[in-house]
Amino acid sequence: MPRDASTPAGARAVTAVAPAKINLHLGVGDVRGDGYHDLLTVYRAVDLWERVTVALVDADAADDDEVIVTGPGAPQVPTDRTNLAARAVDLLREEAGSDARIAIRIHKGVPVAGGMAGGSADAAAALVATDRLLGLGLGRAALEERAARLGSDVPFCIRGGTALGTGRGEKLATLLHARAEQHIVVALADGGLSTPTVFAELDRLRAERDPADPGRGLPRAGGVDPLVAALAGDDPAAVAGLLANDMEAAALSLMPALRRTLRVGREAGALHGMVSGSGPTCLFFCTDRDHAIAVAAEISEHGVAREVRVTRGPVGGAHIVDDPTGK
Ligand code: C5P
Repeated sequence: MPRDASTPAGARAVTAVAPAKINLHLGVGDVRGDGYHDLLTVYRAVDLWERVTVALVDADAADDDEVIVTGPGAPQVPTDRTNLAARAVDLLREEAGSDARIAIRIHKGVPVAGGMAGGSADAAAALVATDRLLGLGLGRAALEERAARLGSDVPFCIRGGTALGTGRGEKLATLLHARAEQHIVVALADGGLSTPTVFAELDRLRAERDPADPGRGLPRAGGVDPLVAALAGDDPAAVAGLLANDMEAAALSLMPALRRTLRVGREAGALHGMVSGSGPTCLFFCTDRDHAIAVAAEISEHGVAREVRVTRGPVGGAHIVDDPTGK
């Protein structure tokens, strides 16, 4: 396989990719003592990918480990050690007891700050690639455990497919029978929304609605049973009728213009339109690929999105695409 064009010459390098996620159901419970919210979610990986290359570089080749980000939205992504891929590299390097200098190249294929786990996918791809680069040989379960330390969505970006997520989203159970394919229009908004801000807005809206409400407790486990059953069938309309996102009201409150995007997509004939995760990306579920292309064209024509893409799911999780050692 040809080496990634962005790989520094002469360096041993490994490239991995990791997918974006959407939440087919996102039930949000109370804020916990640690500041996170209990979730009950059905994650699905979709065919938009982050690509991360990690490369060993000479100790005297650079002053610091470099992080280079390319692709749409790249200027919004930090390139210091707070970058999630850099944190993944630092975690495994420390675990390996290595002082190797590692350059990181990230190519963005997932909307930045769009509620589709682009940063988490960077961390997932970086974990998989660095594990191979440093010869750690951690299995998937061990990588998912490290992933949970980096962010709530990172374990799912490693696993991919369709999975039930609980805890703060990091506890996963793969939904093996959830094979129903989906064709989805992804409408990117101008600007992004920060996940903590949207969670805080949800808490505020709930307190405002019912100040006496002592809390919502855990989202009800059985709440996703009809959706899980529909995902085992092959009726896109049945699945679409069961999609839900508790975060949507908060995202719409912070970015009211999204209401128009949702209306246009629904009027264009989508089976269902909703905000993706914490937003502001909007998703429109369609009957097949041709339908999705037609809906995408309508949304583009109305000028209610910065960019419109068509994707599908489920797809697999993080994996290596280029390892020159061929292991
Ligand atoms: O886990 P992650 O670092 O991606 O979460 C980012 C922020 O989103 C958290 O600091 C928290 O404010 C919020 N969050 C939450 N409940 C979750 C997941 C994230 O409140 N289940």
